[in-house]
Amino acid sequence: MALLLTGFKQLLTFKGAAAPRSGREQSAIGLVRNGAILIENGLIRSAGTEKEVMRHPLANKARARKVGGVALPAFVDSHTHAVFAEPRLRDFSLRTQGSTYAGIKAGGGGILSSVRAVRGQAPAKMVSQLVERAARFLECGTGTIEVKTGYGLNKASELKTLKAIKAAAARTPLEMLPTLMSAHAVPPEFGDSEKYLRYVLAEIVPAVVLKKLAVFADIFCEKGYFTPEESLKYLNACKAAGLIPKIHAEQLSNYGGAIAGAKAGVVSADHVDYARKKDMLAMRRIGAIATLLPASNFFLGLAKYPDARTFIAAGVPVALATDFNPGTSPCWNMQMVLSSACTHMKMTPEQALCAATINGACALKAGNRLGSIEPGKQADIAVFDASDYREVCYYFGANLNKVTIKKGSIAYENSSF
Ligand code: NIG
Ligand code: FE
Repeated sequence: MALLLTGFKQLLTFKGAAAPRSGREQSAIGLVRNGAILIENGLIRSAGTEKEVMRHPLANKARARKVGGVALPAFVDSHTHAVFAEPRLRDFSLRTQGSTYAGIKAGGGGILSSVRAVRGQAPAKMVSQLVERAARFLECGTGTIEVKTGYGLNKASELKTLKAIKAAAARTPLEMLPTLMSAHAVPPEFGDSEKYLRYVLAEIVPAVVLKKLAVFADIFCEKGYFTPEESLKYLNACKAAGLIPKIHAEQLSNYGGAIAGAKAGVVSADHVDYARKKDMLAMRRIGAIATLLPASNFFLGLAKYPDARTFIAAGVPVALATDFNPGTSPCWNMQMVLSSACTHMKMTPEQALCAATINGACALKAGNRLGSIEPGKQADIAVFDASDYREVCYYFGANLNKVTIKKGSIAYENSSF
């Protein structure tokens, strides 16, 4: 039976091409007042003003529900490291005493401490932990997340992680798209990045592709991790094997990852805090999305944030994501990311909301079915307890989400609603 949702004070449709929005288009939100949405078989059949939607032949036969508030496409969080065994509370305490991210790595903490924990974690625990985390994302209005490996760093633990993502995805309405990120750091038993990448390409990538366990491949291009030359070669090989390339680039320094990524044809270059004009131009040339992760800057207490406005002015589409991970961003709430984007990167609420929905969907090559509210799209909707969409970016440290709908079914509902 069709479902008719009514009473939205505002509805942001983001209707338009199933392509990343850049420049002025990044501000086009498709605002409708007194909105309604008609859903059938998990898809949107009609969306617009109540008057318009009521004219649809299915509207009178549908189960109707007055929801109210502000409706947005459910957030598409296109960058997370959501599989990790333990929070890194020691690193956190050290940073409160003045240690830096790089200093903690040198002292044996950082990514490699998460690797020890993930390698020792039982698969069933990994799955149940991810299912619990999925509920947190849904609760905050997120309908889809990308999930990276990268705390296993050997064949057994990377495959364990990908299988856990698959098993968890079967137990939650949250959609999870898997990314192989074995090139996250060089594990201690290798010590040599080139030798390690050879191992990943020979042993891990073929097994992952054969079992169809990942959609994307990612690499951390940074001093002390992997070079731009290694990144290009590695991503080209992953692409040839059938994975869609992404890159962690220019996060801690301007190192060449964005240009290497552009040469490899990445769908997105992520972080890009230290990107310069030449990097932006290379990204624009191939239509790569800049996925900005300001919650990690916030958590690391950095004064410098990615230059969102220059990216947008340069015609590079900007996406926003949480980067949920134990080291730099223990945050699953896209509303916090929106607040950081507006306050610290001076994105407008319109640009930020576009970045968290349709552009996030495009960063996952899913812009044809996710990220906007228009006929034929998947019915993934988040409704906020607000009168104006700007409140979602304005109130921070809160969760204004009251209902999350995934594929036409209620996946989360605030009991006080
Ligand atoms: O995106 N930069 C690399 N990866 C993560 C941090 C991982 C960690 O510290 O555990 C990031 O910030
Ligand atoms: Fe990351």
